[in-house]
Amino acid sequence: MAYQDLRAFVAALEKAGELKRVSIEVDPELEISEFADRSVKRGGPALLFEKPKGHTVPVLINAFASDRRMQIALEVDSVDSIAQRIADYLQMRMPEGILSKLKMLPMLAEVGAFFPTIVKDGPCKEVVKRDAFSLRDYPVLKCWPGDGGPFITLPMVFSNNPVTGKRNCGCYRIQIYDERTTGMHWQTHKQGADHYRRLRQEGKVTRMEAAVAIGADPATMYSAILPLPPDIDEMMIAGFLRKKPVEMVKCETVGVEVPANAEIVLEGYLELGELRTEGPFGDHTGFYSLEDDYPVFHVTCVTQRKNPIYATTIVGPPPMEDFYMGKAIERIFLPLMRMQLPEVRDICMPAEGIFHNLILVSIRKTYPGQARKVMHAIWGLGQAMFSKVIVVVDEEVDVQNVSEVAWKALNNIDPQRDIEFVMGPIDSLDHASRLANYGSKMGVDATRKWPEEGFTRRWPTVIEMAPQVRTRVDELWKKAGL
Ligand SMILES: Cc1cc2nc3c(=O)[nH]c(=O)nc-3n(C[C@H](O)[C@H](O)[C@H](O)COP(=O)(O)O)c2cc1C
Repeated sequence: MAYQDLRAFVAALEKAGELKRVSIEVDPELEISEFADRSVKRGGPALLFEKPKGHTVPVLINAFASDRRMQIALEVDSVDSIAQRIADYLQMRMPEGILSKLKMLPMLAEVGAFFPTIVKDGPCKEVVKRDAFSLRDYPVLKCWPGDGGPFITLPMVFSNNPVTGKRNCGCYRIQIYDERTTGMHWQTHKQGADHYRRLRQEGKVTRMEAAVAIGADPATMYSAILPLPPDIDEMMIAGFLRKKPVEMVKCETVGVEVPANAEIVLEGYLELGELRTEGPFGDHTGFYSLEDDYPVFHVTCVTQRKNPIYATTIVGPPPMEDFYMGKAIERIFLPLMRMQLPEVRDICMPAEGIFHNLILVSIRKTYPGQARKVMHAIWGLGQAMFSKVIVVVDEEVDVQNVSEVAWKALNNIDPQRDIEFVMGPIDSLDHASRLANYGSKMGVDATRKWPEEGFTRRWPTVIEMAPQVRTRVDELWKKAGL
């Protein structure tokens, strides 16, 4: 059964022993962060701060911050089963014969059941604040000492593509400037930024409407971070993940829809062309993102539940909560990547690589130069374009074992021959690239080299003990007193 809302998820976490209520007073300025950071690094539970200093609204943090909690969030025993569901859909072909046609029917009916529905009212409208509201009423965290202010870190930002009318939902941090004004940190490559740009180029209006929802059922919250192609509705994917359509409700003051079960909704507009300094912000690279100019969001109305929960996260030196959210993306998106690149066996984005800095890929190599083809294809694949370093290894290397990759890859390369540099788009958070958003990327072909690739020397095999000796030593081990 799909979670009705955030509080149903909280109850499930609590039942599973994955949530700790913190009943002492803790300050949203830095203190909650320190609790969350220590807890995630020690494999601790999700935390529900019942008394954030100076506030009555409780703070939920680290709700997605382990493999187990990701499974609870997405209601699966393993996120690989979602990958399998996707793979099953992708393999749907024109059925041959009446039997296979019948088998496909339930699947097709299921596809139709994922689309979001519109409802007239919802819990997110239990309280509507048109005049007397302040963003300071919410326990928004100041995460790190050098941050430019408090930031809403786990929002679902909704906007509509002015050309196609299609909805987008992205997780872009929101810096609180004052009671009714915030930053809007959608990076230039992201869909919200594209909607803004298109509207500005059209020149028909001076404002862009948007809404920021905070807290909802976990699949809906999670869908905001998914790297989907433009104009694919995150709410449809959320429906697929939770196996139940997301109910959407129209905002009070803007022409945008939000999840009806949201905890808090900020409605408002961006004045096209109005920019303001955003940041600095202790980011998921583990460094501060330096301040930069971003659009300004003016809040016109706040709607919320009677007793909302404020859902948030912190990012910082890895691993943090977002590592577990990203790991699930890696697993869920693998079948989609393999549709275009069938030679890919597995991929891994180690925590230290912060998603975009390092991607390890194993391939079944069947022709010369294939590792390079795979690198270039990944650089052309949605947000995987940001991959600063791609290391390609042969299929027998377990890319989930970073130590094995380092050992074998470093042995296998002739650096001058096997490393390739390309120029292209770079993640906005990269502080080392020569220009913001533009710089170089590196591909490492660490596969075994073939004569067809100009390598005519002999290639050695990896050392392994003879199986019969291993079995014998298994028996002798105890006898030897070890
Ligand atoms: C905790 C967290 C915070 C994020 N903050 C931002 C942000 O401030 N700006 C941004 O552009 N992307 C941010 N992202 C990444 C986007 O949510 C992600 O790239 C998403 O796919 C963008 O959606 P879009 O393709 O619909 O634009 C964040 C991701 C996470 C997990």
